[in-house]
Amino acid sequence: MKFFIDTAEVSEIKLALERGWVDGVTTNPTLIAKSGRPFIDVIKEIAKLTSGPVSAEVISLKADEMIKEGTELAKIANNIVVKVPMCEDGMIAVKKFTAMGIKTNVTLVFSVVQALLAAKAGASMVSPFVGRLDDIGSDGMGLIADIVQMYQNYDFKSEVLVASVRSPMHIQQAALIGADIATIPYKVMQQMTGHPLTTSGINSFLADWNKAQTK
Ligand code: G3P
Repeated sequence: MKFFIDTAEVSEIKLALERGWVDGVTTNPTLIAKSGRPFIDVIKEIAKLTSGPVSAEVISLKADEMIKEGTELAKIANNIVVKVPMCEDGMIAVKKFTAMGIKTNVTLVFSVVQALLAAKAGASMVSPFVGRLDDIGSDGMGLIADIVQMYQNYDFKSEVLVASVRSPMHIQQAALIGADIATIPYKVMQQMTGHPLTTSGINSFLADWNKAQTK
């Protein structure tokens, strides 16, 4: 299972890289805005930090503008993946990018049929948003299981990228389902290292060690 980091903060990417947690990076317009830095500058810097795929999202909603924008983004580095929102024009753009050999990540996917359309257009990756589905009382991880099954049924090559991850439990479930990739906020990556028994175990080992030294 591949781990992407879901951030536009270079400092977080560096920390995650040091820990071996970065097979790629995903950004979105909200994360770029939060970084407070110009879009192209951030993407260029991130694409140099890792050789893994770096998703950069188009802003246009018209196919021809998406294609223009995505083609420019793809020129930044050869590990750029053009992120395209799920919509009719988006599918035109993904089909074109596929023909051009440009990798794509179809984002804002909330149903099996959306994932089916994205795969048929040739999307390299498809991003179902689990947290946002859970937020409205729906079953985010159930959608992941269904998409993984559907892609297996037809041998689609698109990778399932679990997005909108809120907790380590999402990662556990994604791994058990067999999702290809999860994009994870740095805070959740940190939470994944912890367990109350690990903490108490470290503390008691240290306490016993220190007691023995003072004897
Ligand atoms: O990058 C897309 C996705 O991971 C966004 O997550 O937390 O804004 O629902 P969130």
